[in-house]
Amino acid sequence: MKKTLYSLFVFFFFIAGLTNVRSQDISLPAPEKTGGKPLMQALNERQTTRSFTKDDLTLQQISDLLWAGWGVNRPDLKKRTAPSARDFQEISVYVALPGGLYLYDAFANTLKQIHNRNIGALSGTQAFVATAPVNLIYVADLGKLGKKEGDEIKDAELFWSYANTGFIAQNVYLYCASANLGCVIRGLVPKDKLAPEMGLKSNQVIILSQTIGVPQK
Ligand SMILES: Cc1cc2nc3c(=O)[nH]c(=O)nc-3n(C[C@H](O)[C@H](O)[C@H](O)COP(=O)(O)O)c2cc1C
Repeated sequence: MKKTLYSLFVFFFFIAGLTNVRSQDISLPAPEKTGGKPLMQALNERQTTRSFTKDDLTLQQISDLLWAGWGVNRPDLKKRTAPSARDFQEISVYVALPGGLYLYDAFANTLKQIHNRNIGALSGTQAFVATAPVNLIYVADLGKLGKKEGDEIKDAELFWSYANTGFIAQNVYLYCASANLGCVIRGLVPKDKLAPEMGLKSNQVIILSQTIGVPQK
């Protein structure tokens, strides 16, 4: 009897532990892959926005914008909505939200929590960054290109990662135009301060950041 109770006790805490770990991640709703504005209209309305209301984005909007940017559009081939040089798919999208920092897992359509601190303000030097609801941080995971921790990384080796990020960021711009949201891609990122706050390894390099929110009229 004692043994059974003990097993039940251990089982309960094992399940509780698992639930706790999982509850920190955010399971995104399936992205809306139809609708929106016609492509030519979205292109006509694409623009940079630097003034946002305090409104949060819905999880559906976050799911849609991440899918548009760097989602999986051909699951059988493990391919994505943006092109990627030699299909290395080395760009990781980190999502800074008021509730914490997350990593977008496009294949699981989930935001994996890195920690529960709001580091959005640290992702930029411009005032609007601190109050906007969503800041994406594009990181090149050079481990996928064979770089080990501690290896030297020359600027020229980041050439493809900058190009790859540009495609993702433009997809996000077009989604924002289509969904009446505003965004700005930013090169002004205090990378040395931000990288440790994100827990990045030396072979993970911040490329650009992009702020998204509801535009102030
Ligand atoms: C690689 C890149 C980096 C940029 N960095 C910043 C930035 O740090 N801060 C900012 O406010 N805008 C930044 N921008 C946005 C440009 O200023 C903006 O695209 C330009 O003024 C043209 O405006 P439009 O996007 O509305 O056409 C950047 C754009 C690109 C392509």
